[in-house]
Amino acid sequence: MDIKLHDKYFKPFISSKEIDAAIERMAYNIHKDIGDEIPVFVGVLNGSFMLVSDFVKKYPKPCEVTFIKLASYEGVKSTEDIQRLIGLTQDLKGRTVVILEDIIDTGNTLGEIYRIFKNEEVKSLKIATLFYKPDAYKKDYKLHYIGMEIPNKFIVGYGLDYDGLGRNLPEIYQIKQTQHMTNLVLFGPPGAGKGTQANFLKEKYNLVHISTGDVFRFNIKNETALGMLAKSFMDKGELVPDQVTIDMLNAEVEKNADANGFIFDGFPRTNAQADALGKLMESKDSAISAMIALEVADDILVKRVLERGKTSGRADDANESIIRNRITEYYNKTAILKEYYSAQNKYFGVDGVGNIKEITTRLSAVIDNL
Ligand code: IMP
Ligand code: MG
Repeated sequence: MDIKLHDKYFKPFISSKEIDAAIERMAYNIHKDIGDEIPVFVGVLNGSFMLVSDFVKKYPKPCEVTFIKLASYEGVKSTEDIQRLIGLTQDLKGRTVVILEDIIDTGNTLGEIYRIFKNEEVKSLKIATLFYKPDAYKKDYKLHYIGMEIPNKFIVGYGLDYDGLGRNLPEIYQIKQTQHMTNLVLFGPPGAGKGTQANFLKEKYNLVHISTGDVFRFNIKNETALGMLAKSFMDKGELVPDQVTIDMLNAEVEKNADANGFIFDGFPRTNAQADALGKLMESKDSAISAMIALEVADDILVKRVLERGKTSGRADDANESIIRNRITEYYNKTAILKEYYSAQNKYFGVDGVGNIKEITTRLSAVIDNL
């Protein structure tokens, strides 16, 4: 389950079991090197309090424990300016010292630790850290014991905080690369008013409307690599493979990375496509929030489309049996998706009869509840 701390969303990343195993390995390796000598473990507060507590319980031989307290982080960024809040409170001359850090990021804090120990004349000084971000590390100091290497993304839990919160969590959570999004798959039979409503929704919720048809036309017209690839299939009279469409949608999603979400229109059409779209959103740390289908009785649809046909000039809007066929085809095609999203409790049918504002209000009620 995702969590929210202050303004940010985080997803589960490292379980307590994995943390436990990492600490177990660290205790084993450190003891193997130190042997029978009594080491002094120095925890770096605040973040390391959980680690130190669990670590010393796993250390198989007698040891001493003390703490220093440093502070460097502001929000989700490391700063150069390290504050020494509590220094060493005991003489460590001639002792075997192991620093216990919760996490090493840029290594700035480590620089300060070496300054603290410069004149202490300890017998040996070793660095042990539970988490290490190799891509963020900017120093040359050797790290003697590493619990786990992790990507350069902000984490919370197990002693680590985001502006004070999250330290008490027993497992590690990672910041989500996209924050909370509302992603809708919008459906409606011909004449249901899908286009009109999509326009209102995208304004009201700051969503980006991705109509697959438009995306195809755009890519082909602008001769993008994906457009040319899609065209090569179409020219042979073949269906464009789902992956090509997904790649195009991916490009649209990436172009609009700071949107509050997306309205997908014209995609997915099959279970396989719905799976692929789900994976795409998952790769952005997001998900499809809902499939919303506008529901309108066939007779009303036929009337609306015939009315539109008087001005639209589209031949297929002027013939009742063609309109009825298009409606039937719509239900045949969307039935599977209705099932697919219903199974995830993500299907919402919305009454599409009434004036435009009433329908927008009904759609908003669904979205506000997601
Ligand atoms: P460094 O000085 O950049 O190596 O950062 C070390 C300190 O920054 C740690 O002791 C933490 O307090 C904090 N820190 C670094 N990365 C994270 C993180 O991902 N989440 C929470 N705190 C972090
Ligand atoms: Mg720390």
